[in-house]
Amino acid sequence: MTQLDQEQRNFILQSAIQAPSADNHHRIRFQVDADTIHIRYTEELLPQGGYKRVLALLSLGAVVENLSIAASRFGLGAQTTLLADPIQPRLAIQIRLQPAQAAADPLWQVIPLRHTNRQVRYRGPKLSAIERSDLDSAVGAYPSSQLIWLDDPAQRKQVLRLMRRAETARYRNPILHQEFFSAIRFDVGWHASCTEGLPPGALAVEPPLRPLFKLLRHWPVMRWANLLFGADHIMGLRVSDLPCRLAPNLGLLAVKNTDHPTVFDTGRAFQRLWLTLTNQGRVLQPMPASALYALEGVQAEDIPIKLQQDLAQGWKSSLGANIPLILFRVGVARPGKIMAGRPQPEFFLDMPPEHAH
Ligand SMILES: Cc1cc2nc3c(=O)[nH]c(=O)nc-3n(C[C@H](O)[C@H](O)[C@H](O)COP(=O)(O)O)c2cc1C
Repeated sequence: MTQLDQEQRNFILQSAIQAPSADNHHRIRFQVDADTIHIRYTEELLPQGGYKRVLALLSLGAVVENLSIAASRFGLGAQTTLLADPIQPRLAIQIRLQPAQAAADPLWQVIPLRHTNRQVRYRGPKLSAIERSDLDSAVGAYPSSQLIWLDDPAQRKQVLRLMRRAETARYRNPILHQEFFSAIRFDVGWHASCTEGLPPGALAVEPPLRPLFKLLRHWPVMRWANLLFGADHIMGLRVSDLPCRLAPNLGLLAVKNTDHPTVFDTGRAFQRLWLTLTNQGRVLQPMPASALYALEGVQAEDIPIKLQQDLAQGWKSSLGANIPLILFRVGVARPGKIMAGRPQPEFFLDMPPEHAH
């Protein structure tokens, strides 16, 4: 049986929480019990359907991928079981660490370097055939998801229309507006980071536009700006169309169904892809809104039915039977000065650290 020493445990948990999450908020707790790490999701999930479930599972997958890459540094294999019960909506994951079962995965070294880069302009060059094949291998570790590049001009144009439509809705629909702005920590200002939520300084908002952007968090102001000068359209262009138009590569991960294990594995594949890109000197920004709002069951989460239907139809004509889960743009750019932070690993422990191993 493996017994993690404190340094190993801290390294593994620290690496796990360095994974991305939709709004920089890991809703999880770890319990370390001899050779097993239990991860408990702290909120209830809908058993099926909806986009919030997908965001949660993608983020959990990324956490577990980082965790198992970090464990490999110590030669530990990480046998993972998703204990999702369709009747019981709370999720749990069990990871059994197995000594001398894994070769060190060199990706552990880039876990702290990966970040979300929201610079408007990514430079080239486009990914080479060798780089693409490395990325195919990274995603291929989880065969339920498929990596699709949207670099053909006609297809990219079609996808940009869907992305614009979904991003615009974030500024036009009061519920989506509230959800988006409530994740932004305006209380920390533009020059500091925070351990949970999105620091405004990480959003690459141009300095002269910051006061206006901050004002738009108030729904009456947003509504007024939409009526007066079409702020929702301007935002849709600025946050999705323009950056994606300029990006050397635009891609997505698609699946054939959206059950828990498939979405969770897509989160793992996405994280391997992101780390591999980081290793190649590239940066990435996830932009999944157009895929998420097209999912079945999102009406129960206040996505207007017309928006869902139009997006689903658009994706079907572009991808056929493949269901897109996460879109992203890729390129070369300098990291911003402000990045999202994380709480200490102990924050996520179910037990005080002195009892946790
Ligand atoms: C499932 C998922 C969805 C995300 N969606 C977006 C998005 O729509 N726009 C965006 O700019 N970042 C998005 N992100 C990036 C997160 O905001 C980011 O990971 C988090 O703030 C932590 O920052 P970091 O990636 O720099 O560590 C997403 C991340 C995940 C895992």
